Amino acid sequence: MQTKFLLDESQMPKYWYNLQADFPEPLPAVLHPGTQQPVGPSDLEPLFPMELIQQEVTTEREIEIPQPVRDVYQLWRPAPLYRAHRLEKALGTPAKIFYKYEGVSPAGSHKPNTAIPQAFYNQQAGIRTLTTETGAGQWGTSLSFAGSLFDIDVTVFQVRVSYDQKPYRRAVMETYGAKCVPSPSELTEFGRKVLADNPDHTGSLGIAISEAVELAVQDPNTKYALGSVLNHVLLHQSVIGLEAMQQMEMADCWPDVIVGCTGGGSNFAGIAFPFMGHALRGGEKSRIVAVEPSACPTLTRGKYAYDYGDTAHMTPLTKMHTLGSGFTPPGFHAGGLRYHGMAPMVSHAKELGLFDAVSYTQKECFEAGVLFARNEGIVPAPEANHAVKGAIEEALRCKREGKDEVILFNLCGHGHFDMAAYTAYFAGELSDHEYDDQELAMALSGLPSVSA
Ligand SMILES: Cc1ncc(COP(=O)(O)O)c(C=O)c1O
Repeated sequence: MQTKFLLDESQMPKYWYNLQADFPEPLPAVLHPGTQQPVGPSDLEPLFPMELIQQEVTTEREIEIPQPVRDVYQLWRPAPLYRAHRLEKALGTPAKIFYKYEGVSPAGSHKPNTAIPQAFYNQQAGIRTLTTETGAGQWGTSLSFAGSLFDIDVTVFQVRVSYDQKPYRRAVMETYGAKCVPSPSELTEFGRKVLADNPDHTGSLGIAISEAVELAVQDPNTKYALGSVLNHVLLHQSVIGLEAMQQMEMADCWPDVIVGCTGGGSNFAGIAFPFMGHALRGGEKSRIVAVEPSACPTLTRGKYAYDYGDTAHMTPLTKMHTLGSGFTPPGFHAGGLRYHGMAPMVSHAKELGLFDAVSYTQKECFEAGVLFARNEGIVPAPEANHAVKGAIEEALRCKREGKDEVILFNLCGHGHFDMAAYTAYFAGELSDHEYDDQELAMALSGLPSVSA
């Protein structure tokens, strides 16, 4: 009964996979926030180096992973694939459950898969400083780690609620040499404006992005890095699914169902897109399920419309599932899933019917995570608990239907810095936010009117 499916370093992917090559219809254009005309590379230049801008728009299927990036990936990649024998037994399911574990990275999640190439391309372009936002702290940690390896200063705006909940995340970022600032902050004009309106603002990813972008556009030696949502981020995360494909073959199985959690969509895309592309090219088809929190139900209750990526409306307009850029999700314990929008590529795939989306409340996700930890040993990040919950629900369905389907899910990070959330769960202090239609309609009423 094999438990771990391990690849040799020589089997690590040498190319990232780009789903844009296999979409039956192209992605809708990205629009300039001022003119509402399609953006060109020069519009994005204040924010990103040209190599990443090109990766944003390319429809090439395979993009070579530069050798210096692969050298760093080798610190933890290829990441293991596990068969969850004990969880299967605990559930009494005939299903076979596999999970790809991304928590083996130095930062504890999938986020370094894109932090490393982003730092690399910025270093190649002569950039000295990167600014960014972080929700859970996983992305800020990852970019801080990447900055330390590629000699780039990093300033991280950490969403206030997460900054307060997780002081040790900040300590890790500082250990890597980064500066970590709670957002909203006094450091930017937009942060000062938000604080003037509400000095106790708990922050949001949308606000933190606005602050990071504001600093980046003021200095030609500073650029901005985003930990999710953008096409190039999803491209970098494809290493997860590309490895998992090889590992499923080692296990002599192919997934009937693939499950991932969605905040901005990057870890979900990482595991799912290579399989989606395989099916679009005529290969075996897997059913794919995205799991999001009921308190931030972007895919299940949001609108597919043009919207801004940030609260101050400095970013381009992209067509995506959104709850409205003014939406501040409640301070629940999966900080990485508190984003008002969704990756345009994930949204496009949803519109094309390439996957299903479901939502769960935080308490049922913690319950799933605790069951997982007590059987498989790994304590998942609260974000990853959503994927665990989704996989368990699929396994229980298989039990009811007497099916021995193969379920693959992405365990995108460990929860070692999230233990305060687990303590709150055990103390019965967590509440499930019921999202009311009126609140949702109000947030959506602020969507920009776009003629495209
Ligand atoms: C562990 C973990 N999982 C998931 C996410 C959500 O992001 P994404 O949907 O881009 O994977 C985050 C974001 O911070 C995270 O830290």
